[in-house]
Amino acid sequence: MIDERMGIKALAYPVPEHANNLTWSLGGLTTVCFVTLLVSGIYLAQLYNPVPELANQSVRDLVTHVWLGNFARALHYWTAQAMFVLALLHLLRVFFHASYKKPREGNWIVGTAMFLLTFLAVFTGTVDQEGYEALAHNLDVAKVLGGAGFWFTPNLSKHVPIVLRLYTAHAVFIPGLILLLFVWHALLVKRHKISPHPDIPAPETETPEPFTARLERVAAFGLVLLGLLSLLAVLLPPVLGPTPVAGIEITRPLWMFWWFFPMEQWFGIASIAVVIAAVFGLIFLVPFLDRSPKRRWRGRPLATAAAVVLLLTLAVAAPLWPV
Ligand code: HEM
Repeated sequence: MIDERMGIKALAYPVPEHANNLTWSLGGLTTVCFVTLLVSGIYLAQLYNPVPELANQSVRDLVTHVWLGNFARALHYWTAQAMFVLALLHLLRVFFHASYKKPREGNWIVGTAMFLLTFLAVFTGTVDQEGYEALAHNLDVAKVLGGAGFWFTPNLSKHVPIVLRLYTAHAVFIPGLILLLFVWHALLVKRHKISPHPDIPAPETETPEPFTARLERVAAFGLVLLGLLSLLAVLLPPVLGPTPVAGIEITRPLWMFWWFFPMEQWFGIASIAVVIAAVFGLIFLVPFLDRSPKRRWRGRPLATAAAVVLLLTLAVAAPLWPV
């Protein structure tokens, strides 16, 4: 009866046996992180003041005087990093199982857009962390993008400070876009059904588990993940730096930005934009670059080698950024 009114059973589509494990649940766990970020972010938004002169003090009050304030901030901090890692692992799972091949090319592109937005969400989120330093990075971004970088400069409006605009992007536009794309992503997963496993031949008579049972499994993994993140939030809350001073850089950006900083040292600030555009451009293009019907990773030596080389290069580039 409820189903007649709410259409819940529409979710109950068949899921093959091979998808009932952790690796094929990484997209679901990324979703758990996104929901946790929305909930903790809404709580923080009640107490954080994005006006530049008041931002640092409002975080100071939040972590010392507000009930669960320090925990909510720490949970938000750790969950953001977990979402980035899980989305990356999910991307790698999809890549190595060739789940982006026909007819899922479009969903790969929607996924890449969500990954890019996750990256931007972390970047704009560090405005609260690093205050004026992140602002300085924004001015760098503006320089790199030339005319198109106008949005990143304080000159766009004399009434709305740039930190406030970045905060709106962080708290409203980026999560809103991720949410819209997520609906599209999930509808496409339902339409195409979960991809076949490259090493397991499809059974002749399929008796797959309904998606609702899969949801229960993802929820169980999700609870364990939330437990771990809560533990991290209690044991290792992020430190709050001193009141920021414009033009002085003392904190190191979060680790997911480290890979492109050596480029700045070697080739100048403009190379950062080129490198980021090249890496995300390459990810967007994967289904068009690898068009063979082969699905096993061993049968796709070029694609596998390219992915491994790219990952190793990024991992090696990251520690080269000076502390
Ligand atoms: C950033 C947030 C993301 C969320 C919340 C998300 C969520 C999901 C979920 C829940 C599924 C169902 C199956 C599974 O869990 O493996 C899925 C499947 C899929 N995702 Fe994502 N995803 C994200 C990012 C990405 C990225 C970065 C890519 C690739 C560039 C991607 C490509 C795909 C594809 C192709 C499928 C179908 C997989 C199959 O049928 O085996 N997703 N996603």
